[in-house]
Amino acid sequence: MHDWTPELDALATEVLGYAEERLKRPKDPRWGAKSAAELSAALDGSISDGGIGGHAALDLFRDTLLPACRPNDDPMMLSYVPTAPSIAAVLFDTVVGASSIFAGHWEAGAGAIAAENQALRWLMDLAEYPDTGAGCFVSGGTAANLAGLVSARHRWRARHDRAGDTRPLAVLATDGAHASIDVVARVMDVDLVRVASDSDGRMTGASLRATLDEAGAVQPFAVVASAGTTNAGAVDELDAIADVCAEKGLWLHVDAAYGGAVLASRTHRQVLHGIERSDSFGIDPHKWLYAPYDCAAVLYRDPTAAAGAHAQSAAYLDGVDRRESNPSDLALHLTRRARGLPLWFSLATNGTDAYRDAVDAALRLTDTLARRIEETSELELVIAPTLSVVLFRRLGWTETDYRTWSERTAAAGTALVVPTRWRGEMCLRICIVNPRTDPADLERLIDDLVRA
Ligand SMILES: Cc1ncc(COP(=O)(O)O)c(C=O)c1O
Repeated sequence: MHDWTPELDALATEVLGYAEERLKRPKDPRWGAKSAAELSAALDGSISDGGIGGHAALDLFRDTLLPACRPNDDPMMLSYVPTAPSIAAVLFDTVVGASSIFAGHWEAGAGAIAAENQALRWLMDLAEYPDTGAGCFVSGGTAANLAGLVSARHRWRARHDRAGDTRPLAVLATDGAHASIDVVARVMDVDLVRVASDSDGRMTGASLRATLDEAGAVQPFAVVASAGTTNAGAVDELDAIADVCAEKGLWLHVDAAYGGAVLASRTHRQVLHGIERSDSFGIDPHKWLYAPYDCAAVLYRDPTAAAGAHAQSAAYLDGVDRRESNPSDLALHLTRRARGLPLWFSLATNGTDAYRDAVDAALRLTDTLARRIEETSELELVIAPTLSVVLFRRLGWTETDYRTWSERTAAAGTALVVPTRWRGEMCLRICIVNPRTDPADLERLIDDLVRA
């Protein structure tokens, strides 16, 4: 199993050749989930005493398993938050897998961690974080939010004596904040207090202040501001929120999992003004910064509280050289894949200008789409897009009309646009991150929507 054999030569050629073909040829946009029963029937016997061999297993993956997965990098995959990893990043993901790097501790993975830190520094420079800033790559935005809030609580406890105070600790966020904030609060067993959002879905400094004034039954320790809500792309008033947090001694965590890419924009960067004042932020390169899945980051203005909250100690670990910062100290993990390396390799290969161009291309396309919607009498914007999410209604449509059109369009492989809701009303939502989305295809989609 571990010795290189002539059979493995053949398998390497076949697997790596397939990976290359996978990168070159588009997936079928009509691929998608099949039933568990169907898939388990197809997989029956694939794990056996003798094994079925790599060739047969690869056939099974290519012919049956991958077609049961939605191609989230399809240029017309316009729902949820799509992905669009660069070719260089995907190629290097294979190298990371082949390298067996333990990237939890510097002494084990220094070379990889140093390169990851360069990529993190690029993100922190975009956010105008100080030199004291540090962070690590984590599995996703959910993990980044957990790490930020656990660190926030650690600092709050270190600064406050709670003797006699039985009020639950609480974090504040709007109801547009990502669902992961809710689950993180539950995991941490703290309360989540909702701050009212304005008509564009944003938390304002004033609404935060008003909520805090009435939050006497709980003890707030952190505020989560969204830099791009998933449903609407709304960006909270980061600067004004930072003022309130500074005044009240609250940790400000910015969830920039989706919208953080706009830090690289030449035209829209100012939308995230104020993020530089946060105590931590999360950003997902696997969403809109062209990294393959499993590449998110949590960044801290000052990593002291994060290390206090997360560092693991054990007899067999105590000898670990801690003179350099260890990624395992900065979030909830010990062993970790060097999941930031594909981003580093792609940045090194393509240069940061290519990233700026790609993010701005998505923003321009969003703008074109929004204008086209405004000019079309059958359509109406629900709110003006701030980032690359467009919410709009098809005038006169019932909920059944929305669902029918969405299902028909998906079945035809034209596009995936699933309906969402805004303030209770069903509408359509398009999220653009892929620089390969063709404006002509979007134009055809709108025509189809008007004719339907
Ligand atoms: C704003 C925001 N925060 C957090 C998350 C969760 O990220 P992940 O799915 O990588 O855990 C998402 C996912 O869409 C998101 O859009």
